[in-house]
Amino acid sequence: MIFAANFKTNHTRKSTELYIHDLHVKLRAKNPEDTVYIFPPSTALDHYEGDFTIGTQNAYPAHNGAYTGEIGLEQLDEFDIKTILIGHSERREYMDETQEKVAEKFSFFQAEGYEIIYCIGEPLEIREKGFEAVMQYLLSQFDGIDIGYEKLIVAYEPIWAIGTGRSATVEEISDTHRALKKAISDKPLLYGGSVKPANIKEIISIAGVDGVLVGSASLDAGSFSEMVLA
Ligand code: 13P
Repeated sequence: MIFAANFKTNHTRKSTELYIHDLHVKLRAKNPEDTVYIFPPSTALDHYEGDFTIGTQNAYPAHNGAYTGEIGLEQLDEFDIKTILIGHSERREYMDETQEKVAEKFSFFQAEGYEIIYCIGEPLEIREKGFEAVMQYLLSQFDGIDIGYEKLIVAYEPIWAIGTGRSATVEEISDTHRALKKAISDKPLLYGGSVKPANIKEIISIAGVDGVLVGSASLDAGSFSEMVLA
């Protein structure tokens, strides 16, 4: 199983350091086959010791240059970061990342050999239209994306389940993952959206779920490690 923690705009450099130290100790009991990723804010990127991979939540598709406020490959290389989240719904929505921009970013980081956790997910109004509308929406988020890329992991995160405390139902996850798996064949597929210690066992036991991408419940090292060890 894959367990990924997305801190979003939470934690500082100092608190990330403390978190990772705590997690490192707790993860000694983890199953060696499980893999853990942590996506701290950019200001907390660093070399950290432990059985997990540190990735970046975002970066600009350039080595360096005049892109005020962004970080590029040069800044990521300093910490040997080789993993990135692309296409998260919060970036699509609040940072106006269009499918075209997302695809451009994907191609750039693919060419650089990055491991990419590529996020897709539908808003509530699409979910309410029914399954066919959901699948049409989700598949359109693969426009311009090379789903044959060997270092691709897909994360399905229904927008209405993110940060709401209301995860998708087992049936919704199961049906959506089954259909998505047909499109992405052998690529690992994560579920994200209100995953927490109380529902982790149920979610990771669903066929077609290869792991989880966790926001709120990953912010506490105790809660996140509880899920990894569940
Ligand atoms: P929550 O776990 O807070 O719902 O967030 C999910 C998410 O967006 C992870 O990328």
